[in-house]
Amino acid sequence: MLKDFQVRRMFESIAFSYDFQNSVLSMGQDLSWRRVLAKSIRVLDRHLILDMATGTAEVAIEICKHHPRIRVVGMDFSPAMLSIGWRKVRARNLEERIRLSIGDARFLPLKNASFNAVTMAFGIRNIEERRVVLSEFYRILKPGGQLLIMEFGYPDNPILKGLYRLYFDRVLPLLGNWLSRTDYAYTHLVESVRTFPKEEEFLEEIGESGFVQLKVKKLTYGIANIYNGIKPDAPPPRFPGKEGGERAG
Ligand SMILES: C[S@@+](CC[C@H](N)C(=O)[O-])C[C@H]1O[C@@H](n2cnc3c(N)ncnc32)[C@H](O)[C@@H]1O
Repeated sequence: MLKDFQVRRMFESIAFSYDFQNSVLSMGQDLSWRRVLAKSIRVLDRHLILDMATGTAEVAIEICKHHPRIRVVGMDFSPAMLSIGWRKVRARNLEERIRLSIGDARFLPLKNASFNAVTMAFGIRNIEERRVVLSEFYRILKPGGQLLIMEFGYPDNPILKGLYRLYFDRVLPLLGNWLSRTDYAYTHLVESVRTFPKEEEFLEEIGESGFVQLKVKKLTYGIANIYNGIKPDAPPPRFPGKEGGERAG
C-alpha cells in the first residue's frame, strides 16, 4: 500500500490526463457507473452533498445534472486534480452549485451533521485508515443522511472473472502506466483493488461505523460496486437487548 503522500504525489502527476485514462481503460464504462451513482442519491431540493475524493469533479458534475436544486462540496487532497475539476465546473457554469475545496478524508474540515449525503468514487481503496474515514463520514452526515461509496471489484462469474483479471492484472498496468507516463500508477491500482476487502467485509466495516440499511449494488457484473448505508435517525443503542438502551451504573 502506498503512503498517503505517495498517493497524493501520484494523483498530482497523472492529473493532466486522468479523465482520458479513465475512459480509455474502462472502455467508457466509468461514465455510466458515475451516472448510476448520481441517480442513487435520495435528496431533496437545496440539500447539500459532499463528494469526497472528487478528483476532477466528474461525480460532482454528474450529481448536479440529475438533481437540479442541490449543492455539492467536492473535496480532495490533490490540488492538480481539483484545478482540472475547477475548469470543468466553470465551463459548465456550475460555480454557484459546486464548491471545490482541499481536504483530507481522514480529517474532514467540516462541521458535525452538516451534509445530507456523502459520495466517494474510487477513493477509499487508496486510504489505509478506512474506518477513520467512515467515522468522519458518519460525523458530518445529518441523521437520515445517505452514504454512497463506489469502488472496483471483480465479476462473480468465474469465466468472466478469469477474462477480466487477464485484462486487469496484465494489460491494464502496462497500458495505464504508459498513458499516465508513470511506472507505478496503474500497478498501484491493480494492487489496491486486489487487497481491498470483499463486498460483505466492507459492508460490515460500514455497519460497524454506525450505518444501517446496508446494501451493495453491482455494476457491470461486479467490476464496480456501490456500497450504500444510512446514518440512523437516532444513534444505535450501545447495549441492545435487555432494556434496549444504555446500561445503568
Ligand atoms: C481514482 S481518483 C477518483 C476521482 C473521482 N472520484 C472520480 O470518480 O473520477 C481518487 C482520488 O482520491 C483522492 N484521494 C486519495 N486519498 C485521499 C485522501 N486521504 N483525502 C482526500 N482525497 C484523497 C486522490 O487525490 C484522487 O483525486
